[in-house]
Amino acid sequence: MASKYGAAQVLVASNRGPVSYEVREDGSLAARRGGGGLVSGLSAIGPDAGALWVCSALGDGDREAVRRGVGESGVRMLDIPADVHADAYNGIANSVLWFVHHMLYQTPLEPVFDAEFRRQWASYEAYNRAFAEALAQEAAQGAAVMVQDYHLSLVPGLLRELRPDVRIGHFSHTPWAPPEYFRVLPDDIAGQLLRGMLGADRLGFLTHRWADAFTACCEAFAGGLGDTRVGVHGLGADADFLRKRSHEADVNERMATLRAEIGEGRKAIVRVDRTELSKNIVRGLLAYRQLLDDHPEWRERVVHVAFAYPSRQDLAVYQEYTAQVQRQAEEINGRYGTPGWTPVVLHVKDDFARSLAAYRLADVALVNPIRDGMNLVAKEVPVVSDEGCVLVLSREAGAYEELGEDAIGVNPYDVVGTAEALYEALSMSVGERAERTKRLAAAATSLPPGRWFLDQLSELNA
Ligand code: G6P
Repeated sequence: MASKYGAAQVLVASNRGPVSYEVREDGSLAARRGGGGLVSGLSAIGPDAGALWVCSALGDGDREAVRRGVGESGVRMLDIPADVHADAYNGIANSVLWFVHHMLYQTPLEPVFDAEFRRQWASYEAYNRAFAEALAQEAAQGAAVMVQDYHLSLVPGLLRELRPDVRIGHFSHTPWAPPEYFRVLPDDIAGQLLRGMLGADRLGFLTHRWADAFTACCEAFAGGLGDTRVGVHGLGADADFLRKRSHEADVNERMATLRAEIGEGRKAIVRVDRTELSKNIVRGLLAYRQLLDDHPEWRERVVHVAFAYPSRQDLAVYQEYTAQVQRQAEEINGRYGTPGWTPVVLHVKDDFARSLAAYRLADVALVNPIRDGMNLVAKEVPVVSDEGCVLVLSREAGAYEELGEDAIGVNPYDVVGTAEALYEALSMSVGERAERTKRLAAAATSLPPGRWFLDQLSELNA
């Protein structure tokens, strides 16, 4: 099938696809947009443009959809056995690779590469092989295959063996760790991962920092990059989509509700994340608490709105982290709250329209990840903001490379420093904040998803 991207067929492969399904009580299937930066970035691209998106069935609803033959055109969901998928996704991708790439292992207790890890690794290989086989089957002669993220690191090498004729790209939506950190992996596993990636013709990263770290790992552990090319593509926000979507009726409704929750005349410090350890939500709450201690004149005049979408809740560390976020918010509300003022409004539930409402009315956006490949929230807020919003941004987010000048930068570990940054943000003049927001929005949208993808394709074909 030809796509709008030119004569050759285009395939996209990722663990999470553009939709997921839930079985309703009456037995029917409800479709929902997938979450996270990868899906946000790629949603503008796949099916509509004539590309085929190969993804994984992620739960019972998805599996049921596969069984019933329900699904969007241009999407093929792979029904990989649930236990193999669980080992590959929860065990290897999210418990090991995610933390290695984010440099977030908690030594000395973790990691432990034992026999259980080896067993799960075999599932990760099988899962990658299932993708490679499906792609080999779907790809026309000379097709371009765009593989996404750490779940599918072995796919380029496996697909290359099956189909030497196709062009293979791989894109990492996460950071990449430098050799001093990457070497935590057992030698054979590290080598297999790098060789798997190097099966691609071209590899893409979100920033130079991650691309350079990958190159250094290849030099240290795989004898260099060989013929594989490496490029940087800093995915930006989708301005057209966001501006339109954020003015639809459901968003307006939620804005009214949220404004009432915050209270008229109060300022709002907003954050929106998955309940994800790397997002640093707890230290963000501690920084807000410190702000209320150091600058009591802000009590009753500001509310911290924190939306945390449940994520990876099959993993105990994510469950514990979510509970810790909730406890910390309650502690602050218990200690500082008054009859007319709830200092923290925390919602742990997925609601995209409500996030957009919060973006529109935010006075300050807090984006303080310990480490992040890019962070699209930092790019979306300035685009959607009604009256300008100050961005407090971690220097460890990939987005800082592009937005650092007009944001207030923070060291994500430094709670006191982050509290001071919040204070500075709350105190900024309306004029300066509007000017900065305008420049942030321009930088944030300089590489919209459609072009981000096209650039990679044309580089792959070059
Ligand atoms: C990050 C990853 C994506 C992933 C997303 C959501 O952005 O880079 O690959 O899809 O998180 O995580 P989940 O585990 O729910 O797919």
